[in-house]
This record gives sequence, C-alpha cells and structure tokens, in this order.
Amino acid sequence: MQTDIISQQGTRQQFDVIVIGSGIAALSYILELTQLNPNLKIALLTKITLVDSNTYYAQGGIAAVFNAEDTVNQHVKDTLQAGDGLCNQQAVNAILEQGRASIEFLQNNGVLFDRSESGELSRGREAGHSERRIYHCGDQTGAFIASALISQIKKQKAVTIFEQYTAINLITNDLQHQPGSVTEVVGLYALANVTGLIHTFLANVVVLATGGAGKVYRYTTNPDVATGDGVAMAYRAGARVGNMEFYQFHPTLLYHPKINNFLISEALRGEGAYLRLANTGERFMQRYAPQAMELATRDIVARAIFSEIEQSDYDFVCLDIRHKDKQFLQQRFPIIYQTLLNLGLDLSKDLIPVVPAAHYLCGGVLTDTSGRTDLARLYAIGEVAFTGLHGANRLASNSLLEGIVMGRNAAQASREWVTKKLQLQNNIQDWKTTSVIDTRRSIQINAHWRGLRGEMSAYAGIIRTEAGLQDLLRLVSLRRNMIEKYYWDHLITRDLIELRNISLVAELIVKSALRRHESRGNHFREDYPQAETQPEVSLARASHLIGDNHYEYEQFYNINLHT
Ligand code: FAD
Ligand code: SIN
Repeated sequence: MQTDIISQQGTRQQFDVIVIGSGIAALSYILELTQLNPNLKIALLTKITLVDSNTYYAQGGIAAVFNAEDTVNQHVKDTLQAGDGLCNQQAVNAILEQGRASIEFLQNNGVLFDRSESGELSRGREAGHSERRIYHCGDQTGAFIASALISQIKKQKAVTIFEQYTAINLITNDLQHQPGSVTEVVGLYALANVTGLIHTFLANVVVLATGGAGKVYRYTTNPDVATGDGVAMAYRAGARVGNMEFYQFHPTLLYHPKINNFLISEALRGEGAYLRLANTGERFMQRYAPQAMELATRDIVARAIFSEIEQSDYDFVCLDIRHKDKQFLQQRFPIIYQTLLNLGLDLSKDLIPVVPAAHYLCGGVLTDTSGRTDLARLYAIGEVAFTGLHGANRLASNSLLEGIVMGRNAAQASREWVTKKLQLQNNIQDWKTTSVIDTRRSIQINAHWRGLRGEMSAYAGIIRTEAGLQDLLRLVSLRRNMIEKYYWDHLITRDLIELRNISLVAELIVKSALRRHESRGNHFREDYPQAETQPEVSLARASHLIGDNHYEYEQFYNINLHT
C-alpha cells in the first residue's frame, strides 16, 4: 500500500575537506591535517556516533616494531607469509616501517599502552607473528585509541562534526564519463538520519574512511555500521575496487544465544589458549598446522574450525585457557573475562564456545599507501582501502597500524587539493527526487537482510565451489535488482542505503570469487584446492557511467602482480 509523497531535499554546505567515518583512519587523517594546516574548514560525517566503528571494538592491539629485539624486516616477512603471495611488497614496507612513528603518534595523542612492572611497554603475541609485537591497552585497545583521538578532535575548532549522517553517494564533476577520462569527486549526498533530509555537501577533497563490510555475512565480529558503504560509493562513481573475494574470517567469535558479535581476541591464543572439539575435547589443530598449531594464520585456523564443525554434531568448537592463572586472565583480558562471567562462563574454569565469523575486508577501493584512488580529489583510507598490505589474508593487528599510516599519509598527499577550489562543470543538483513512502518496505528490507547474509555465509563463506557461487550469483543479482528499484522509487532511509550497498558488495565478492580458480589465503575453492603459480590481484570497475552513479556495464579482470 502506498501513502504520502514527500520531498527529502535538504540544504547545501561547502567545506575544504569532508571526511566520511570516525574510526582510526579518519581520526588520524584529521589530526595530521589540522597540524599541517590549521585554517581548513573540515567536516566529519559519521553514521551513528563518533564511537560507532570497528576501531572502537578492536581488542588485541596494534602491531609495530618498537623494540630493539625485533626488526621491521621480520614484521615484513610475517606479513608476506600471512598474505599468501598476494601482498604488494612496496606497500608492506612503506606501512610497516612506520610502526614506531605510529605508536609515538598515539602516545602523543594520549593513548596509554599497558606496561610491565619494569615500566617497559607490554607486548602481546598473535597468530602469524614470529615475535611479541602487539601493543595493547588490556583487551580494549580500540576503545582507548578511539576515545583519546576523539577527545583531541573535539578540541579542533576547524572541525564540524555531523553525527547521525549517512553518506549516500559521491557527486562527481563529469557526469558524462568516458572510459579513460579522469573523474573528479566534488562532494556527496548524505542523509540526516534523524530528520530524513538529504543534504548536499561540496568539498575540495572527500576522504572515504568508512571501514569494512562484515554485515555481508550472517556471523560477524563487526558492529552494525560495517556495511561496505565506501566501497559501494567509490565503485558506483567509477573507481576500481580489488581483491573483494578475500574476506577474512576471525576464528573465535563467541557462540552464545545472548550476544551475537562478541569477539574472543586472538591474544588469548597468543597467551597459550587451545582449541578443542566440543564433543571429545580433542585438540585438533595438529591435524591442520602441526608446527604453528593454534597460532597458525587466521585463514588456516578458521578453515580448520569450519571443517571440524561441519563434521561434528556441534555448531561450535571450544577455546580453552583454563591452564592459566585466574588473576592473570582477569588483568590481561578484563572485558572478555567480565563479559563471559556475566553470561555464566568463567574463563579460568570453563571451555568457551566459539565459531569463525566475518571480520575484515582485505580488498577494497584500490589506492596507494597515501589513499589516492582512481578519482581526483577522492581519497580512501583504512579498511575501506586496498593497498596490498594484507594480500590474501591479513596478519593480525596490522590494520590499526594501516589506518594510522594511511590517515597521516593521506593528510600530506591531499594537500595538493585541499585549497584548490572546485571548478564545477555541471550545475550540481540538490537532492530532488520525490519519494513514495511504501509501508511494506521495512519487513521486506529485513527479509532481504536475513536472506542475503544467510546466502553469502552458505555459498561464499569459508569454503566455496563453482556451483555454489553460480547459484549465489543468481540469488544476489535478483535481490540487488529488487533493492535498486526500492531505492529509486521510495523514501530513502539508512537501512535502505546500507542494504543497497551491502548487496552491491555481495555481488562484487561473488563475481570476484567466481573468477579466482585457485585457493589462496581467505579464498578457498574446494574445486581448485591449489594456489596458481603466478598470483594475480582481481580488479573490478563500473564503466560507462551514465549519470547519478548508474552504470551500464562492469569490467572484471585479474592482473599479474608484477606487470
Ligand atoms: P572503522 O573503524 O570501521 O570506521 C568506519 C567509520 O565509518 C565508522 O565511524 C562508521 O560509522 C563510518 N561510516 C561507514 N559508512 C558510513 C556512511 N555511509 N556515512 C557516514 N559514516 C559512515 N585490528 C587491529 O589491528 N587490531 C585489533 O586488535 C583488532 N581487533 C578487532 C576487533 C574487532 C571486534 C573488530 C570488528 C575489528 C578488529 N580489528 C583489529 C580491525 C580494525 O579494528 C579495523 O580494521 C579498523 O579499526 C578499521 O578502521 P577504519 O578507520 O578504517 O574504519
Ligand atoms: C583480535 O584481537 O583477535 C583481533 C585482532 C585483529 O583483528 O587484528
């Protein structure tokens, strides 16, 4: 049943720089830029509140070489090994060599890392690291970092903060795109979640710092904001995205009916926790990684758990750290300890039920390590970006580091544009579509969310096959067409924006997974269990754009890393 027709047209505002997101990448970018140029007019838009981000939930810590016994070379080696042949070594070197500077940047902005009794910074261990090099604040590293950086940002007069604003689409300067022409991003449309108005924001530079897309799968460690909006917006505007098939699954999400996205940090395995079968109690990792066991890289551990669950009558396996001292566990993992206790589980006495869950998008918008994209004036930083640091599988705790390094590098790099005024070639329209409120939509949208996420988990999860991916492509494409129609005909809400984006991200993952006829890192094809000898990255681009981010066809291609 259809009811009122309403206009969502809002106001127009202009800034020097607009940053979308409030995670570690966005915050680092702004703090660096305001140091370099305190007179800029900067807008920060974020979907809910400043602390709603993956960053806030980071537990384990930040990987960096800060200790004389460790070397950047060794950190590089571990990262390349985890990345399973698909890392861009230049990006790896460029990012990891800024480990020390990044820890100092956080300390200078008020982050207090844990210290040992002798006063040294404490160093945790996580899977795939040959050294203890994870700097942490208990098991709440992200919350400490986010809080410290946010309080610095709030002191910056140049920054206007827009909470509860959802960016919808990028505005480009050349709406009649021709293949090969350089498109310029000049702003974006954003929904004010509370009023329902859609505002026009113009800026000399737009920075996407929108994080990952864990919500594309049924089980995820990510909070609700992680819906791949930045990838979808950049793709629709004509930027290339890459390696979308490499979604990293974290091995140990808590499996409990009362909490659905609580992570049990890998740092527990770093401190000696075992994985055991739920029925027999057997430690099973020796059958999958006899050397590294529970500290094998995440792709291996997650796949092992998935296989064991598939063969058993249980929907979970168990994490066991009962052999560690209770006081140590309470001090080292205070939030995990207390959260479990509230659920009736004592980490020092009980086995903890866990399952693998979608955690980190290793691909994303193609950028260099300073966040430059294919489009002029558009930067992408942090988890939304695909620099090549992570290859086919991210080494634990490298992403907070990447967020800081990219944020700070992009602040330097974007100085080329921040004061260069826009020369608008087209008359940029404010949001003018009138929309119909359709009272059926909220339940339809929920059905799409549930359906899409369930299908992605079943067919494009930890183990994939051609037949399954082909079936999935039909399902996802059908849903995507229906969702696009809702988007153009009806009232725009945050839920609809997110669903539209996640369905596009899902399609990109499936199409990329279908093209990759090998198994590597996070992408395991039962029908192609070996890795190809010549590793290729996969890229996708929407071309022949025909205005307002509609595109006529897509190109998908794989390129050799060394060409
Ligand atoms: P995020 O921190 O995710 O921020 C994205 C921001 O963009 C959010 O503010 C969001 O609201 C906003 N946004 C998104 N779309 C829109 C839109 N359309 N309009 C407006 N705003 C929008 N990594 C580590 O290195 N170490 C760890 O210990 C670690 N632990 C983790 C634990 C958990 C539970 C999770 C989920 C992740 C963990 N990670 C860890 C990964 C790491 O936290 C993220 O990769 C990193 O924080 C991403 O930072 P970011 O700034 O790119 O994005
Ligand atoms: C964790 O604490 O297990 C998460 C670390 C990460 O994702 O880098």
